Amino acid sequence: MQVVVNSPNVEYTNKYIISKYDYQYVEAQKEESSIAVNTLTEKLMFRTQRKVPKLGVMLVGWGGNNGASFTAALIANKLKLSWTTRKGNQDANWFGSVTQASTVRIADEVHVPMSHLLPIVDPNNLIIDGWDISALDLAAALKRSEVFPPDLVEVLKPHMEKRKPRAAIFNQDYVAENQKSRADNVLNGSKLDQVKTIMDDIEEFRNQWKLDEVIVLWTATTERFTSIVEGINDTAENLSKAIKSNYKDISPSTLYAYAAISKGCTYINGSPQNTFVPGLIELAEEKKVFIAGDDFKSGQTKLKSVLVDFLVSAGIKPVSIVSYNHLGNNDGRNLSAPEQFRSKEISKSNVVDDMVASNSILYKPGEKPDHVVVIKYVPYVGDSKRAMDEYISEIMMGGHNTLVIHNTCEDSLLAAPLILDLVLLAELFSRIEVKKLESEDAEYTKLHPVLSVLSYLCKAPLVPKGTPIVNSLFRQRACIENILRACTGLPPETNMTLEHKVP
Ligand code: NAI
Repeated sequence: MQVVVNSPNVEYTNKYIISKYDYQYVEAQKEESSIAVNTLTEKLMFRTQRKVPKLGVMLVGWGGNNGASFTAALIANKLKLSWTTRKGNQDANWFGSVTQASTVRIADEVHVPMSHLLPIVDPNNLIIDGWDISALDLAAALKRSEVFPPDLVEVLKPHMEKRKPRAAIFNQDYVAENQKSRADNVLNGSKLDQVKTIMDDIEEFRNQWKLDEVIVLWTATTERFTSIVEGINDTAENLSKAIKSNYKDISPSTLYAYAAISKGCTYINGSPQNTFVPGLIELAEEKKVFIAGDDFKSGQTKLKSVLVDFLVSAGIKPVSIVSYNHLGNNDGRNLSAPEQFRSKEISKSNVVDDMVASNSILYKPGEKPDHVVVIKYVPYVGDSKRAMDEYISEIMMGGHNTLVIHNTCEDSLLAAPLILDLVLLAELFSRIEVKKLESEDAEYTKLHPVLSVLSYLCKAPLVPKGTPIVNSLFRQRACIENILRACTGLPPETNMTLEHKVP
């Protein structure tokens, strides 16, 4: 059920939904004893292509816990499967997906699924493929993950056992030593040969299913960080030369992303490593291909970006945030190595910065709460990750408030809906164009290639150079919702509800 807006500012043509929009924003300059503020209005025209493409997604790390869980969920939802649990029958669903399981308020008591605001790909029509260094077929990978109950795994087996990951780019130097035993499905040859194979794989997948668009998403093992080296990965040209010369220190994830961007495919990074070296970002900008990342924001960090926002915006001062995790899946095993843990630690640790910086009453310039992140590998708990957090805050007159949170759930069941949202929203935002109306010859352009609008789904959001990072979950969600509303011709959700307050 698509939302149809009756307004002189909206036009529905066969091809587009066109919406005229006054974007009001503020510029401010701090002066000695005052703040000079200018309110500005930018007259914009949004245009959203109505035809939804036939979309394919290729997962790097397809046979991992997230990849197998996502594939299983896709099939189970498409086939409307249900299975027995100790509590009775369980139907397939997409709980945890903002596009499939959350709503947007249109008017009092009228809420619609977010997916009804603009035409968006139906998950049941999504085609999936991918790569993995482990050759296990997807049915066996699902069993290995120990995420779903055995009954469901059996029902899914005939739908998954014929799906086999393509051979992958692998470099032992980037992941923990303990991952070596998985690597029985890897590409040989130079870096350039490997990039070419990935590009051929994308092309073959596109042709096989007659796809209009392919998105490539990394949900593979967390890599260590790559050094940024002048002359190697600092510009698009240097990165290209480095690949051709088989330079040793280029991560597999950067090679996949390079191949995807070269084929014009959106590339999304669900892990913390710095795949997007400056040369790769430049390449995406030059080719006007979308990129997004980094690191799925699924559990502990998601809660942190809500809780710290709540505390700081309530005038309460978090002074110590300590986060312990233990998990027993293969991700946890990999993260038990110091360099891979370091990637995760970095991605988890900047999440409160913007909220802290926003309140100069609580924090002096440069002051931050103590913030520590610990991750331990405990095989017994498997995919059922434990996240334990202690938040100490200063309250009025030197008092203290301590919050302790214990969070337990299957990690992959949090991540799989995020994979779906990232893919569907990245595709939708790639169909949105915008034009500034101030000059007559202005032309429609796509959004910036660095899709920061997907920050809601990412722990360490990648944003265009020089632009602010927003971590607050509700601000991130409001950003998605309000852009979709603008394209539909609806006003932003201000929550003023003046219609009930002004007599
Ligand atoms: P996993 O270890 O079960 O799966 C990763 C898969 O990637 C494995 O099957 C492995 O064989 C494969 N792989 C490794 N290197 C590869 C390469 N170069 N090319 C192709 N495949 C390769 O891990 P899981 O639990 O599925 O997580 C995947 C990633 O998502 C990890 O980096 C994790 O840190 C990240 N992540 C997961 C979250 C969650 O589960 N809630 C949240 C945030 C991030």
